[in-house]
Amino acid sequence: MKHTKRVKLIGILTTVLVVLGVVLGIIYSKSNLQSNKSTSNQAIKETSQGSTKKSNGKTLIIYFSHSGANYEGYRKIGNTQVIANYIKSKTNADIYRVNPAKAYPDKSLSKLEDIATEEKDNNARPSIKGTLPNVDNYKNIFIGSPIWYSEYPMIMRTLFDKIDLNNKTIIPFVTDGGSGFGSTQEILRDQYPKATILKGFQVQGSDVQDAKGDVNQWLAKLGY
Ligand SMILES: Cc1cc2nc3c(=O)[nH]c(=O)nc-3n(C[C@H](O)[C@H](O)[C@H](O)COP(=O)(O)O)c2cc1C
Repeated sequence: MKHTKRVKLIGILTTVLVVLGVVLGIIYSKSNLQSNKSTSNQAIKETSQGSTKKSNGKTLIIYFSHSGANYEGYRKIGNTQVIANYIKSKTNADIYRVNPAKAYPDKSLSKLEDIATEEKDNNARPSIKGTLPNVDNYKNIFIGSPIWYSEYPMIMRTLFDKIDLNNKTIIPFVTDGGSGFGSTQEILRDQYPKATILKGFQVQGSDVQDAKGDVNQWLAKLGY
């Protein structure tokens, strides 16, 4: 009798342990599944935040650059144009150069500075030669410019007044003589409150010839 009771007890205990094991197994595998799921969701989020392009709409490069006498001496190809060309060769994007209707002096830096100062003081909107780019079919727009007096040359304001980059992704790049971005980031934010403005690329005009590697690294981070 005693023996039979013990056998029964062992049987019950074994059943309880097996059932407990199965239940715990199910709970564990469920929670594991959930955490895998949240990891992969996060990965997608991180990818879509950290990178933009390629798979995400067409890209256009718009830039202004002054060829001729400049802070760094005479430049047949302007500093910003050098960077625009690096971007073009890595992204294969379409490209548009902002050309002034009335050319800036190319032989005398001081004459160029006089005109640029006057344009800034008058908050001028110097005319752009030819037709402006149609940005409708582009999602990502690189905006490149030299820094003039710690901000954009006024001809860039002419451009900004005429093309709507709200709801686009704007990727700025500038070349300068030491002031960095100046107030250009704020200008873009004020002009296009509904655009996504990414961290841009900045390099001093004197360093553009050596900047291709840095440009390519920056572009790779953006998904190009
Ligand atoms: C009229 C004028 C004003 C400038 N003002 C500044 C300035 O405020 N800060 C600065 O760092 N560089 C200034 N620069 C230097 C340019 O930003 C620099 O040379 C730039 O790389 C020129 O690019 P680009 O060759 O594409 O025109 C100025 C240049 C010019 C011609």
